[in-house]
Amino acid sequence: MSVVISPSILNSDLSDLKGELERISGADFAHVDVMDNHFVPNLSWGLPVVEACVRVSPVPIDAHLMIENPDRWAPAYAEAGCASVTFHLEAATAPIKLARELRALGAKASVALRPSTPFEPLVDHLHEFDMVLLMTVEPGFGGQSFIESVMPKLTRARKAVSSAGLDVRLQVDGGVSRATIERAAEAGADTFVAGSAVYSAENANDEIAALRELAAAHVH
Ligand code: DX5
Ligand code: ZN
Repeated sequence: MSVVISPSILNSDLSDLKGELERISGADFAHVDVMDNHFVPNLSWGLPVVEACVRVSPVPIDAHLMIENPDRWAPAYAEAGCASVTFHLEAATAPIKLARELRALGAKASVALRPSTPFEPLVDHLHEFDMVLLMTVEPGFGGQSFIESVMPKLTRARKAVSSAGLDVRLQVDGGVSRATIERAAEAGADTFVAGSAVYSAENANDEIAALRELAAAHVH
């Protein structure tokens, strides 16, 4: 499985979003965190800002919706041109119907799990998704520390995807850095979100390359 690096712009310099997106031109995606102050205790931005990112970003947009009622709101992010749209399983009423709708609109369909949400309910439905995001922090803020206890769930998820013979990506998000990316890759992740690690680096593209190399040595 190839390594995918998707830096989160949450803690970038928001007064210069275009410049900050250009700083990560070596990434596979730009990870754009949408927070509604209901599903998580933080508010970031909504559709108009994400549409602007789609317009100016040199790389495709990976939208992570930390919002209530994704059944109602997520399709608009696919229509806006996001390459991948991730909604939370805990917030969705009809996750499979929603995933099918996202795919029909031309986006990759992805479902996210908080650190303590079990993976097993997805096992029979993996073919409905292009990616599963296993949060390695409680969603809501950048700069938190990696929750190591998610690793056994990641390993079970990797086994389920492999034994189903599917090409479902497993993404980790939260506290991913040079110090943690190898363990996440070893446990089964192939797609990595890193916010503060990339944006606090002097040269963001060099940091992306370093993270990619560390992950590639351990990815399954
Ligand atoms: C947290 C967000 C993450 C966050 C990652 O709720 O979903 O994407 O920005 O930031 P770091 O890499 O700093 O943990
Ligand atoms: Zn995120």
